[in-house]
Amino acid sequence: MTARRADLVVVGAGVAGLTAAVAAADAGLTVTVLYKPSPAGAPSTSTAYAQGGIAVVDPTDPDDSVDRHVADTVAAGGPLVDVVATRSILADGPAAVDRLISWGAVFDAGASGALTRTREGGHGLSRIIHAGGDATGAEVQRALTAAARDRPALTALPGRAVALLAEGDRVAGVRTEAGDVFGDTVLLATGGTGHLFASTTNPLGATGDGIALAAAAGADVRELEYVQFHPTMLYTAGARGRRPLISEAVRGEGASLVDAEGNAVMAGVHPQGDLAPRDVVARAVTDAMERTGAPCVYLDARGIADVARRFPTVTAAVREAGLDPQTDLIPVLPGAHYLCGGVVTDLHGATAVPGLYAAGEVARTGLHGANRLASNSLLEALVMGLRVADAAKGAVGHPVPSGARAIAPPEARAGREALQDAMTRFCGVRRTADGLAELGALLADPAFVRDAPALSSRDREDAALTAVARAMAAQALARVESETEVVA
Ligand code: SIN
Repeated sequence: MTARRADLVVVGAGVAGLTAAVAAADAGLTVTVLYKPSPAGAPSTSTAYAQGGIAVVDPTDPDDSVDRHVADTVAAGGPLVDVVATRSILADGPAAVDRLISWGAVFDAGASGALTRTREGGHGLSRIIHAGGDATGAEVQRALTAAARDRPALTALPGRAVALLAEGDRVAGVRTEAGDVFGDTVLLATGGTGHLFASTTNPLGATGDGIALAAAAGADVRELEYVQFHPTMLYTAGARGRRPLISEAVRGEGASLVDAEGNAVMAGVHPQGDLAPRDVVARAVTDAMERTGAPCVYLDARGIADVARRFPTVTAAVREAGLDPQTDLIPVLPGAHYLCGGVVTDLHGATAVPGLYAAGEVARTGLHGANRLASNSLLEALVMGLRVADAAKGAVGHPVPSGARAIAPPEARAGREALQDAMTRFCGVRRTADGLAELGALLADPAFVRDAPALSSRDREDAALTAVARAMAAQALARVESETEVVA
């Protein structure tokens, strides 16, 4: 690729990136979207794997309101939730979903045409819209990809970002493995960090690239210690890498968790039982596994009528494992699912670095606090993607930089599996100050983290994972120590 230029350069092609790209193209901007190539056939975005849906208030429902949605979000995420940001993002939800529908997304609806809504953990009522039963993300990805293809001003190119380009204090483009792309506005929409852990619900590309790029450029990166572990990832003995999710909506439709001895996992744990916020359920599942010595617990979905029709994605994954959700218990355990913190942005998606924006899982807007409320992520990505498009419109017209310099993240890196094993052991659902200190020492050990030029894509991903692991371990240790002080 020779050097290119666009008004907006987007790194990442999931819901946040493509929403910004399509909206910006509709506003008359030229847009280049850079996406990570993925192994044949596998979607490279977390969006494409999202199951449960999009949490959004039905403005015609007298029982629901933005205030109730805010209250549920704060109850799940705790004091770190920024209530002003949360109210602003959630209030824009219905209009953002309408915009997505106007671009061609089709959600499940009843005979009257009204969208069907389900419930997930932490929600006080059913407000989650979905598509294809439990294939919401696949439909969102399909619709946005088709909308992007329809916009002549938008070019999507395979390209891994290796550095940000800056002139003065302003980010002015992206260096990829194939060449430079300059832009007035650069949006990082690179998703999460699931592959820091031995098993995750995230796609292969979730290696923290955007966080490493933003941190190197001087952006504020915060609350990385709040990794959300989804309580019900499908268990397979010895599995590593991406594992199928069993949507929380399965519990929303009546399934319940039992331990290996047949006891209800959530009995007496929380007033919302199996639909308690995700962190509460993940801890209870971990407790049950420790109590019984079993490597998993079980989800009983046998009481859901026609489970295969309502949950086709889950059913296919469970059948692949040789079980049938209508007649068998589904073995599950917590798995790394979502990064609640990330690159700090304001309510327009702007980071502390001029010209650099972030949206979606890579960003920290203040909506998620310490524990994201189920299905708030697709909504946040839609709303913030639209806002970044607006901001980009106001930034058009910077001259093409004459002397841009590349800001690349550090290249030092640990081996992928050794890093994943260490993170899983010391930085998983259960953490202690001693364990985190041991992790910090390991990540500072030149025998564990080698300082050598990153020559391949895999090397760069490993370097990004290592940089994020170092920051995450330090932030988690600081959090554990400050909480210990508070308790003492
Ligand atoms: C799920 O379907 O359980 C996942 C939804 C989410 O991560 O918000």
